[in-house]
Amino acid sequence: MKILLFGATGMIGQGVLRECLLDPRVTEVLTVGRSLSGQTHPKLREILHQDFFDFSTIEGDLSGLDACFFCLGVSSAGLTEEAYRRVTHDLTLAAAQTLSRLNPGMTFSYVSGAGTDSTERGRVMWARVKGQTENALLRLPFKAVYLFRPGLIQPLHGITSSTRLYRILYRALGPVLPLLKAAWPNSLTTTEQLGKAMIHAALRGAPRPVLETRDINQL
Ligand SMILES: NC(=O)c1ccc[n+]([C@@H]2O[C@H](COP(=O)([O-])OP(=O)(O)OC[C@H]3O[C@@H](n4cnc5c(N)ncnc54)[C@H](OP(=O)(O)O)[C@@H]3O)[C@@H](O)[C@H]2O)c1
Repeated sequence: MKILLFGATGMIGQGVLRECLLDPRVTEVLTVGRSLSGQTHPKLREILHQDFFDFSTIEGDLSGLDACFFCLGVSSAGLTEEAYRRVTHDLTLAAAQTLSRLNPGMTFSYVSGAGTDSTERGRVMWARVKGQTENALLRLPFKAVYLFRPGLIQPLHGITSSTRLYRILYRALGPVLPLLKAAWPNSLTTTEQLGKAMIHAALRGAPRPVLETRDINQL
């Protein structure tokens, strides 16, 4: 299976990249990012790209792919709705529209988050924008779209977030997360479980398009 990965430098993307490189069923991993992941591996090829609203210069590299794991995203903290929507909705759709045109047989997996508002009408700005993004992705002509909605995620294998807010949060929660996970296994997921679940959904499918923490851990 040939995978395209967005957000490989981030906390979730690093975890997903690790699992893709370890899994023999994944034969090639192509990353597209503003910077390199820092990993080297015979299966890995990385494309540096700056304009995430225009992929015309790299379209030649973006076909013949089986799945896209879209782990790129930002926190809404400190952003206006317009600025948050530009990265969360507009950028994601720019990539997804290009990919669905070039790869009609592709499975597209998007990381949104627990609490995402599918009605698009709620009062919480980030949840509404993620809901609009999810709904727009579902309308694209992919083979399948999976919407991963993790809540708390335990970063494993030395992985950290590139978002300061998440780094502070996870440093503070660090000692508590393994206890929480042991007591209530479905209260949170890990970067490893999320990566494995994305690979599983792309290869075998999943029972439904929207996957909450419990579903992610059970895949
Ligand atoms: N971490 C969590 O606990 C958690 C929980 C639920 C949902 N999520 C969601 O999962 C997604 C990823 O979270 P994360 O924790 O992995 O974030 P992260 O560590 O901050 O990583 C974000 C990734 O997105 C890329 N990115 C951000 N803005 C970009 C832009 N304008 N153009 C190109 N690349 C851009 C970053 O690339 P650079 O390295 O170039 O900046 C990085 O690879 C987000 O949508 C987040 O809301 C996260």
